[in-house]
Amino acid sequence: MRLRRLLAVSTAGVAAALAISTAAVAVPSGTTTSSAVAPDSLRALAAKIGLRIGTAVIPFDLNTANYAAVAAGQFSVVTPGNEMKWQVVEPTQGTFDWSGADRLVAFAQAHGQLVRGHTLLWHNQLPTWLTTGVANGTISDAQLTDLLHQHITTEVTRYKGKIWQWDVANEFFTDSNPSGINPNDFWVSHLGAGIIPQAFRWAHEADPHALLCYNDYNIAGEDGSNAKSDAVFAWLQQMLAQGVPINCVGDQGHLDTQFGFSGTRMTQDLQRYASLGLKVAITEADVRTFVNNATDQVPTDNLSQFAQPFEFGQMLKACLAVRQCISFTVWGFGDADSWVPGFFKGEGYATIYDVNLNPKTAYTELQQDLQLAAHGAPHRTGIGADS
Ligand code: XIL
Repeated sequence: MRLRRLLAVSTAGVAAALAISTAAVAVPSGTTTSSAVAPDSLRALAAKIGLRIGTAVIPFDLNTANYAAVAAGQFSVVTPGNEMKWQVVEPTQGTFDWSGADRLVAFAQAHGQLVRGHTLLWHNQLPTWLTTGVANGTISDAQLTDLLHQHITTEVTRYKGKIWQWDVANEFFTDSNPSGINPNDFWVSHLGAGIIPQAFRWAHEADPHALLCYNDYNIAGEDGSNAKSDAVFAWLQQMLAQGVPINCVGDQGHLDTQFGFSGTRMTQDLQRYASLGLKVAITEADVRTFVNNATDQVPTDNLSQFAQPFEFGQMLKACLAVRQCISFTVWGFGDADSWVPGFFKGEGYATIYDVNLNPKTAYTELQQDLQLAAHGAPHRTGIGADS
């Protein structure tokens, strides 16, 4: 009901704001704002300050009306959760499946949304033919390099001009203190750490206008020690000094209420990346907690219902506080579609809509933060000095 009401409201002002919202960064052409967008939606509020609010999407779920309505109505940038990963796009060597990725790009274009491409170089979700071939020696390191080059060129070329930001490289740093590039990573162990900047160069050749990002988790102080952020920062400095075409840093933002989290530190870390001349983005925000079961996802600790939206709000505020933070993406919007119950035993409740697609407190938290950001907090009066 609420969704229908929200979608029924449209203003020309919002459409105009969305159209101009990302000045100064490359925005793919061909994106139109066709459908009605409610003025109090996340995307409309964020548009007033040039911020894009995003979500990971399961492309074939877009055939479900309720799901599609939220995806289109609330978000101005979308990421395929899995459908641009190598495992999905080339399940058999030389046989491609672009159906999910194409579906998402078409949806985005029809709804005035941009697309974050995810991800070209990662140790996970590689096709079995590739990992098996490497393991049994039928794919040599030289062939592996060529295959990667071909993969990046094919995929980036296919979506040339249609992708706003590409997560070129994903999760290369260790969680240790001090942190560094993981020598045991699939790619690094076979091809050396130089394969990471090489991937950026190949992506840049295929689409010179896309923003190319390094994406990772716990790189904005979520590890408490800031060790991973320090290592990524030092590496980025080196890469930029060498002229590697890196344009942005994506902090995934997968939080868990059982651990501490400092929004202040996140702000400082994002600002530090930005000081290198990079854009920054929150790319996979979710906040998980312990739940009764994976179906209902009711938090087992009453305080979670306060901690969960609070941490979402802290992340958004960190992004809002840094001018170069150009997008804030949640990793799926509904608890029923979240990756969390499948990956973290006993946990869930990680998104901003519940299992029935009703907005949760975390949704309201983000909406209110954006409302304040959009209009500017009012000047305080009558509190002593001037009363
Ligand atoms: C997750 C997807 O959401 C799941 O559906 C899939 O089974 C595994 O990957 N960091 C990333 C994302 O960069 O690609 C991951 O997505 C979540 C962690």
